[in-house]
Amino acid sequence: MGRLRTNINAPELIKKYSNYVELDDFKLTKKQINLEIGCGKGDFLINNALNHKDVFYLGIEKYSTVILKALKKIERNKLQVNNLLFTCADAKDIDCNKLKHAISRLYLNFSDPWPKKRHAKRRLTSPTFLDLYKKILKDDGQVEFKTDNDGLYQYSLEVLESRKDVKVIYKTTNLYKNIKNKFNKDNVQTEYEKKFVALNKNINKIVWSYK
Ligand SMILES: C[S@@+](CC[C@H](N)C(=O)[O-])C[C@H]1O[C@@H](n2cnc3c(N)ncnc32)[C@H](O)[C@@H]1O
Repeated sequence: MGRLRTNINAPELIKKYSNYVELDDFKLTKKQINLEIGCGKGDFLINNALNHKDVFYLGIEKYSTVILKALKKIERNKLQVNNLLFTCADAKDIDCNKLKHAISRLYLNFSDPWPKKRHAKRRLTSPTFLDLYKKILKDDGQVEFKTDNDGLYQYSLEVLESRKDVKVIYKTTNLYKNIKNKFNKDNVQTEYEKKFVALNKNINKIVWSYK
């Protein structure tokens, strides 16, 4: 996977786009809000926003250079997506009081695996993040997690299944073998997903809710 060169002007440039919002300035809307954490260059959210105008999408990504790519894509293709905002922030800084039980669906797509044990706390399925998601999800909200990384899948499943407040609704180690399953049939590919599918890598998926 190629590394993205950092654009030192990106933190300022992103602020000029109408599809960008500072996390502190984000206002709740009456529409259903679906959130992707670690949204990368935005393909997943852009495609969802184009196809579901009745839903509002928010993407959180910690690197402004990456968000700028998503914003430029919208501009270049003249896409009408006023139901989509990107924000540059670390997920750990989400204000749980402001977003309290506001999110209907939370997507974690191809999250960084952080394979070293000493970095486990950075994994987006570590216990601290699972606590955060519980606070911001609606009572009937769900989290959808996809990963090419078998180690991260196993780790995530162990953490989830060890918790009394979590209900694993669906899991598979091969999304594409089960593409007709109701949890997969409307699958929207992400940038990373496209690359791993092209390499014939199995894609893991877990869907869970909170009790
Ligand atoms: C491997 S990429 C996947 C991008 C995209 N979701 C996809 O599937 O193509 C993971 C992304 O998550 C972002 N990320 C990782 N940890 C994050 C965090 N704590 N808060 C916000 N973004 C994060 C990274 O900067 C990176 O862009």
